[in-house]
Amino acid sequence: MRVLVTGHQGYLGTVMVPVLRAAGHDVVGLDSGLFADCLLGPAPVDPPTLEVDVRDVTTEHLTGFDAVIHLAALSNDPLGALAPQITYDINHHASVRLARLAKDAGVRRFLYASTCSVYGSGGADLVTERAPLRPLTPYAESKVRVEDDVAAMADSGFSPCFLRNATAFGFSPRLRADIVLNNLVGLAVLTGEVRVLSDGTPWRPLVHARDIAAAFAQALVAPTDRIHCAAFNVGTELNNLTVAEIAATVADAVPGAAVVITGEYGADARSYRVDFSAIRAALDGYEARWSVADGAAELCRRYTRWGLTESDFTGRFTRLARLETLQAAGALDDTLRTQPIGVRNG
Ligand SMILES: NC(=O)c1ccc[n+]([C@@H]2O[C@H](COP(=O)([O-])OP(=O)(O)OC[C@H]3O[C@@H](n4cnc5c(N)ncnc54)[C@H](O)[C@@H]3O)[C@@H](O)[C@H]2O)c1
Repeated sequence: MRVLVTGHQGYLGTVMVPVLRAAGHDVVGLDSGLFADCLLGPAPVDPPTLEVDVRDVTTEHLTGFDAVIHLAALSNDPLGALAPQITYDINHHASVRLARLAKDAGVRRFLYASTCSVYGSGGADLVTERAPLRPLTPYAESKVRVEDDVAAMADSGFSPCFLRNATAFGFSPRLRADIVLNNLVGLAVLTGEVRVLSDGTPWRPLVHARDIAAAFAQALVAPTDRIHCAAFNVGTELNNLTVAEIAATVADAVPGAAVVITGEYGADARSYRVDFSAIRAALDGYEARWSVADGAAELCRRYTRWGLTESDFTGRFTRLARLETLQAAGALDDTLRTQPIGVRNG
């Protein structure tokens, strides 16, 4: 298949593109490059790339593709809180426009990177895809709105599918330090402490970036009736853990590290345990295989091997800090559009 992947230079896209190419797909990427050079270790080989802001996509960009995998977004709660209106512009409006243009261009399948945080506060019971959506942040709200608006476009020629990913973990050449496991392993490697700022009680479903990539790769080629206008939680019940359990796993993986639960941020309202049976039933043989313990050990090895530093960890590998640095340098304007080189710093 000929596949356009938006946000392919992000944390997940950088892991997903090689999986799609290995499956024989002809992949083109589209990205505004906010994190293109945020690399730890050897640089990946990017596919042919459209350096385009997703807000500026035209039908021409989308012509000739069988499928679109839409990852590009301001991709977490702190970023959403930074500028809620820009989050809605990029994550909601531009995503719905992208889907409409893709449909107009004859694209038949549209796989959307949604999130389990659409469930907000789910309590102790396992939440299925039929649970009420209670988004607690602009980021999560933007994902719910896209699901609603793009589902309304589904017809016999256009099949959207909404993959509600658990919180990702694991190594990517374009690393992120602001997701819980990657963050705790980094702190442990750099400081010897696994420092938890909440009280440790919230439930967090986790999934390895490679298991997310595998879910998208399988949804791409699944029979249409299995994925048409469906939402799937992506992950495994085995990785529904509390933050305190995640911290203990990290301490086991990083030699000499000890857990410190400061509790200074109190309880976190975002807490949910997730049921992942629907994706296993719909996508034959799909299983999220990576345990949190294996992911923590992998991260510890890679961080150590590629020489993670504290300034990179809190700087370019932390999305909010990275965007603030680009804005301060004049490389991004107030709406987070990249500026031509000649305009920067001027
Ligand atoms: N990482 C997770 O834990 C997680 C969990 C659930 C869902 N998701 C979703 O998966 C997708 C990918 O996540 P990620 O962790 O790789 O995020 P990321 O922040 O690492 O990457 C996002 C990519 O989108 C690009 N982008 C952002 N705004 C853009 C714009 N206006 N135009 C063009 N490109 C733009 C960035 O340059 C970047 O390469 C996102 O939609 C995210 O919401 C991620």
